[in-house]
Amino acid sequence: MVPHVPGYTGAMAEPETPDGTCPECDGTGWVLVAEDGVELVRRCACAEARLRRRHLEASGIPRRYRHCTLENFELWDPENPTLRRAHRIVREFVDLYPEVDKGILFMGPVGTGKTHLAVAALRELIEAKGVRGRFADFTSLVLEIQMTFDGPGTAREILEPLVGAEVLVLDELGAGKVTPWVMDLLYFLVNSRYLQNRVTLFTTNFLDTPPEGMESLADRVSTRIRSRLYEMCRRVELRGSDYRRRRLAHRAERGQG
Ligand SMILES: Nc1ncnc2c1ncn2[C@@H]1O[C@H](COP(=O)(O)OP(=O)(O)OP(=O)(O)O)[C@@H](O)[C@H]1O
Ligand SMILES: [Mg+2]
Ligand SMILES: [Zn+2]
Repeated sequence: MVPHVPGYTGAMAEPETPDGTCPECDGTGWVLVAEDGVELVRRCACAEARLRRRHLEASGIPRRYRHCTLENFELWDPENPTLRRAHRIVREFVDLYPEVDKGILFMGPVGTGKTHLAVAALRELIEAKGVRGRFADFTSLVLEIQMTFDGPGTAREILEPLVGAEVLVLDELGAGKVTPWVMDLLYFLVNSRYLQNRVTLFTTNFLDTPPEGMESLADRVSTRIRSRLYEMCRRVELRGSDYRRRRLAHRAERGQG
């Protein structure tokens, strides 16, 4: 019997013996603790850590981005204040969560670190705060939804876990070609999260006031969706050059081309 199960403790320790059994709880996942003279049953840190690891694996963060953290996000260009600002805002967001009223909309050109920062935030929320978070890539999502047209799975089944996720990262908003039918479903996703006040982080290459001849975010995803994002997210614009190119140039310099 479990008389009292408090929420997450914040502990991430994994006290495991070589045979894999936790000495704290003997592998049961529960420990007895005395608090103000009262004995309580608590979830053991090992069970907590296991649960968070499972959440991380289930989050859908792509392999390529699993390494991304706030610690390894470099403020590499001192001439570019947007890096420092974005990093600071994400740090504050993670520290304050769940006491935040908005998500973040990262905007900017390719390779400026938008996905890195969004994943770093999601990872930290899952690992340090036990959040059930999900990552979805806009283009893959659109393709998946389109395939439901002639497949057995319904679009709703694909969207449900994303609608219900405590925190969602929707990467590359507005990328690729989207039919009106799929756009309606994306509207359903964004609007459902909007109505439920759920925290969402978006990244996009499209700006609100793009240079002459380029499409704006509203052009790409409809004004209905863009309008909701104003209320759902704090806007964080990243400027500057492509970190991928810079990394390549550095490797070439060191002969690791
Ligand atoms: N400031 C940084 N410090 C460390 N790594 C970085 C930084 N910026 C980007 N990177 C790395 O460079 C690669 C590209 O960054 P990322 O994918 O986040 O860019 P992006 O802004 O999302 O680009 P796109 O618009 O093409 O999606 C990733 O591997 C990321 O980890
Ligand atoms: Mg990206
Ligand atoms: Zn244990």
